[in-house]
Amino acid sequence: MAQIFHRSTNTLSRLSIFGAVFIIGGLFTVGAILVRSPYVTNVGVPVPQPVLFSHKHHVGDDGIDCRYCHASVEVSAFAGMPATETCMHCHSQLFNDSPMLQPVTTSAATGLPIAWNRVYQLPDFVYFDHSIHVNKGVGCTTCHGQVDEMPLIQKATSLQMTWCLECHRDPARFVRPRDEVFSMTWQPPPDQAALGAKLVSEYHITSKTNCWTCHR
Ligand code: HEC
Ligand code: HEC
Ligand code: HEC
Ligand code: HEC
Ligand code: HEC
Repeated sequence: MAQIFHRSTNTLSRLSIFGAVFIIGGLFTVGAILVRSPYVTNVGVPVPQPVLFSHKHHVGDDGIDCRYCHASVEVSAFAGMPATETCMHCHSQLFNDSPMLQPVTTSAATGLPIAWNRVYQLPDFVYFDHSIHVNKGVGCTTCHGQVDEMPLIQKATSLQMTWCLECHRDPARFVRPRDEVFSMTWQPPPDQAALGAKLVSEYHITSKTNCWTCHR
């Protein structure tokens, strides 16, 4: 019987199968890069705010403790946001005629809270709790980065599930002594493995990767 296809079509079909595999592989790679990219996660992108409030000034230069403004971070799921009165403790006297502070003085006069834009926000179907992390020795910088150097807060971490799990699988790599949780300068020591193992047993930390931990 006569050949229907010329012999060269064998090569052609091999080439096109090969090509398809590469193209599909390529698409997956692009997809994988994209879901981790700042376009999707917003990591490193400063969020505009109604007041140019600077953590670099207040935390880095003036050394104000996180808990002065995020008062419930040790005791509740929510870190808490400062009320306008908290700003006015200082700014009723300090820079009170600065145009930059005008939204703050207006808020104090009208009683309408300042509408801060959220920087870190998990979807509703994820449960998170600050107090357990803070009390088990996970520092603010581990999740929020060098806040003391940020004029405007920007995301330092993705908050993606893989990011949570990376720590939950092996918390010893990240935990620090409890009294260093608020420190902006603490760095893991060269023997973090030994320190982490000690703290994990001292603080009774377990590896929590069960779906119900975060989806309840
Ligand atoms: C003087 C008050 C004050 C102090 C002190 C302070 N913050 Fe804030 N923080 C704010 C205000 C106001 C905002 C909202 C504006 C913004 O996001 O920049 C905020 C926002 C944040 C956010 C982003 C919240 C979101 O929208 O998801 C993080 C994270 C944060 N602070 C961490 C810290 C840490 C860590 C410390 C201590 C090292 C600290 N803050 C100290 C007032 C303060
Ligand atoms: C414990 C005192 C204290 C508190 C509380 C405080 N600030 Fe300040 N703020 C300062 C000081 C000191 C400066 C000068 C900062 C510097 O240059 O280091 C400042 C500067 C500022 C400036 C810049 C003013 C300018 O004209 O340059 C803004 C805006 C501001 N604060 C907003 C806020 C807001 C909003 C809050 C409440 C969330 C707040 N501050 C709470 C002490 C405070
Ligand atoms: C294990 C990671 C982790 C640690 C440690 C952590 N945070 Fe957060 N923080 C988050 C996540 C996740 C959110 C978003 C929560 C949400 O959307 O429900 C958040 C949100 C915030 C907010 C916005 C208000 C809120 O509660 O949603 C502030 C303010 C904040 N963190 C401050 C702090 C401070 C101060 C510390 C240190 C004492 C700290 N965080 C430690 C992960 C962390
Ligand atoms: C750097 C480490 C670290 C990161 C990142 C982290 N966690 Fe945790 N998480 C811990 C530790 C440590 C505990 C305490 C475990 C224990 O007590 O056995 C914990 C406990 C929890 C608990 C409480 C479990 C319970 O039984 O009450 C929840 C919920 C939780 N984490 C959610 C999250 C979510 C959601 C994220 C990501 C947005 C996240 N965590 C990121 C270290 C981390
Ligand atoms: C340590 C906390 C944590 C645990 C444990 C966890 N998740 Fe998640 N999960 C998250 C967070 C955070 C997100 C949101 C991710 C985002 O917004 O990108 C998420 C998102 C999801 C989504 C939505 C799709 C996606 O990827 O965004 C699904 C489905 C899901 N999780 C299933 C599971 C299952 C099944 C398990 C158990 C094997 C599990 N999760 C365990 C934190 C957790």
